[in-house]
Order: sequence, then structure tokens, then C-alpha cells
Amino acid sequence: MKRILIRNGLVTDDRSSVKADVLIEDGLIKAVEPCIEDSVLQEGDELLDAKGMIVMPGAIDAHTHYHLVSRGTVTCDSFREGSRLAAFGGVTTVIDFADHNKGQDLLQSLAYRRDEMRDGMAIDYTLHQGVYGHGYNSTIGRQLEILKSKGVKTLKIFTTYRNTGYLIENRDDLLDLFRNARRLGMLVCAHCEYNPMIEEISDNWKGDFSPASHALLRPAEAEAKAIEVFGQIALEADCPLYVVHCSSEKGLNAIRDLRKKGLVVYAETTPHYLFLEKSKLNGPDGSLFVMTPPLRERSDNEALQDGVLNHEFHVIATDHCAFTREQKLSSSDCRTIYPGIPGSEEMLALLNTFKDEHPSMTMSDVVRLVSTEPAKLFGIYPQKGSLEVGTDADITILDPSEKWTLTDNNVHSASHYTPYRGFKVCGKVRTTILRGKIIMNDGEYYGEPGEGRFIEQH
Ligand code: URP
Ligand code: ZN
Ligand code: ZN
Repeated sequence: MKRILIRNGLVTDDRSSVKADVLIEDGLIKAVEPCIEDSVLQEGDELLDAKGMIVMPGAIDAHTHYHLVSRGTVTCDSFREGSRLAAFGGVTTVIDFADHNKGQDLLQSLAYRRDEMRDGMAIDYTLHQGVYGHGYNSTIGRQLEILKSKGVKTLKIFTTYRNTGYLIENRDDLLDLFRNARRLGMLVCAHCEYNPMIEEISDNWKGDFSPASHALLRPAEAEAKAIEVFGQIALEADCPLYVVHCSSEKGLNAIRDLRKKGLVVYAETTPHYLFLEKSKLNGPDGSLFVMTPPLRERSDNEALQDGVLNHEFHVIATDHCAFTREQKLSSSDCRTIYPGIPGSEEMLALLNTFKDEHPSMTMSDVVRLVSTEPAKLFGIYPQKGSLEVGTDADITILDPSEKWTLTDNNVHSASHYTPYRGFKVCGKVRTTILRGKIIMNDGEYYGEPGEGRFIEQH
């Protein structure tokens, strides 16, 4: 395998940014030093000049749904498309989800998802394992022990979707799950929307079902209530809680309240809850902006942005769940619009831009949120999320000063649209390196389906 020397970059991890060179050998980081001479290179090796560029650990999108089969359809970015667009966005690892399949236990469900992903993934990946109500039984504790031995330590639960069987309805079962997670050192990640409140609003709803109503049918109060109720159970079990895709100021306040009570709460938000507001749901293409939880008010964007600046969030991830324009626009009824939007590719450019607009935020903060902290929380650090010598040479080279405008035509999702259309951003990924192999350089993609590896969580 050829060696790569990256010279003159601003080498940035979660703690510092220093001008340095990086040498990659056999897929690993061999050296990070102030000056590495070109003479270390032999014929066939590669020299990359990163003058003026940020050289950072590959981004980790800790919340993706590539090839999600749901509601009688499948998302348009499968593993090949997802890997490709991720590489364009400087993402070298994703943490996707293994559904808890009906009729299968957790181990069978994990094996099923791993089989699905194996041949298509061109970047590395690991999985959160769904634990759903329809499959909950007294053997869960034993199943979790085996799951952990298979390299999956993060669990995903839903606090809503009773009709699909996702919701674990029995409080004792939930307490049991959190207690098992604590016993085994596993992390419970929760999609927080309080189902009784959502069902009550829906049952009494007199309005229409346009895309704009989606936000009213699933209000911020439901997010806050779910965080409060499920957080209380986590407190009883003395087990940390990870809140996925926090969308609202009320949700963030509920997280703050739990922390005051002594619970360790890890919080994730997404670029769309930071930068898009619910007015997007109005108009003829409102369906394109439907995801769950829904977009909120401008004041929610601002409160979440403050939360990011104040280090109240551990992770920014995208919840990438892409459908084509045709799939999205096939319904204008918010009960049947396929929920989810693309985002893995846009994440770094959006966050670099946000950082530039907020002097208190550093590039190390960006690296912490999209690489180091997800790697640590999900058990793949320092192999991922670091620039330590001897770890995987997953490296993103970002030109922090390139200004460009996001359009439907300059992103790579098979959805053929970006929810951030028209956003003027600063920062473009030049090169993406996965375990020492350049998989994207200057707009050309070199990833190979099947070369992505499943990374075990420790
Ligand atoms: O609308 C969304 N977010 N779809 C993906 C599934 C989920 O709930 O995260
Ligand atoms: Zn969710
Ligand atoms: Zn999701």
C-alpha cells in the first residue's frame, strides 16, 4: 500500500490546531510531526500539499439510515450511494441502525443488517441496535450480553410509534432494559417524542394534514415530555441516557433538568434543527422538509445553536434518511409523507460556516462534535476520531475558506435535492482518506463498495 505524506496542513483534533505534517503508512497514521521531509517517500508514494487546509480525523456521522426499508418503500441512498455522498462530505465512518426485526431476536437482527451492508459500504461503519416493544421478552438481558460480545454496545429505543410495535410500552420492561444497559456498560439512545401526547393530539385534531400540520401534530412539548419521562426511568436505573436528534428549546431544557437531577445525559442534535425552521413546511415543496421530529421555530434553532456553543451537546449527526423528490412529493398528507431528509454530505460545510460566524467556536469544537466525541461515546475511539499515531488513517482535508452555495446539483445524494438549497457556505472537503486510501479527491470518488469495514465497539 502506498504511503501518503500530507504536508503543511493545520492538523486539528479535538484539543488543538497546529501546523504539522502527517505520514500515513499501511493504512495507519505513522507520524504527526512539525516537519516530515519528502525524502521519506519512495516511488509510487503520494505527496499531498495541504497548505491553508484543515487536516482532521475523518468525520463520523453517528446517526444515518442508509437503505432504510420502511413504510412500504426504501430510502434512495443505499449503502453505495450513502458511502459516496459521505466521502464527498468528509465522512469516513457512519453509525447506522439495525432494526429489531419482527420474528428475529437482537442477534439475528444484527446479523441481518450486517449482511445487508457488507457488499455496499465503501466507508467504515458500526451499528446502533434497535430494541423494540414487539420483540421485548425476558431473554433481553442475555441477548444484550451476546450483542456486546459481537461489538455492538449502543441500543436505540423509540418513545413513540406504538402502532408499528417499536414502542416498549411497559414501564417495567424499560426499567429492566436500562438496568441491563447499566450492568453491561451499554448506551441507550432514545428517539424522544412522548407517544400518549402525540396520540391525544392526533385523536382530537380538527385541522388539515398539510406538511405544515406535521409540526403541530408532533410539538416540542412531546419531545420534552418524553425526555422527562424516559429520563426518570434512566435515573431510577442509574444509567446514562443518550438523546438522539434533539429538535427544540423545550427538549434541551428537559435535558438540562435531568442533568440537574444528576443524570448523565448525552445529547445529539442535527444540522436541520440548527439551521432550518418550520416555515419550510409551507408551500408546494413542504413535503421535502418533513422529518420526525419536525422542524421548529427560529427561536428553537437559536436555542440549540447556543447549546452547541455552550458545549451542551456532545454530538452533531445528521439523521440522514433520504428519499427522492418523487418519493417525498408523492404525498402532501403529513401522515403519509415519507419522513427524513439527506444531510451527511452537507454537515461539515454547514458547521464550518457556523463556526466562522461564531468566534467562540473553534475548529477543534467541530472535530469534537462530529468525530472525537461520537467515537468515544460509541466505543470506537481512538481507532476512529483521533489522529494518534498507530490508529486508522481516516483523514479529512477541508479547505476552510472556499465559499460555495449548496444547490440540488452540487451534492451527491440520490435524492437529487438538498434541504439546504441556496445556503451560502464556507468550507469544502478537498480529500477524504479511509484507512490510508484516498476515496475522494478534488471532486473525484475512488471508494469501492465492499471495502468499508464493520468496526466493533469496545
Ligand atoms: O424522519 C426521520 N427522522 N426518519 C428517520 C427515522 C428516525 O426516526 O430517526
Ligand atoms: Zn428518530
Ligand atoms: Zn433517525
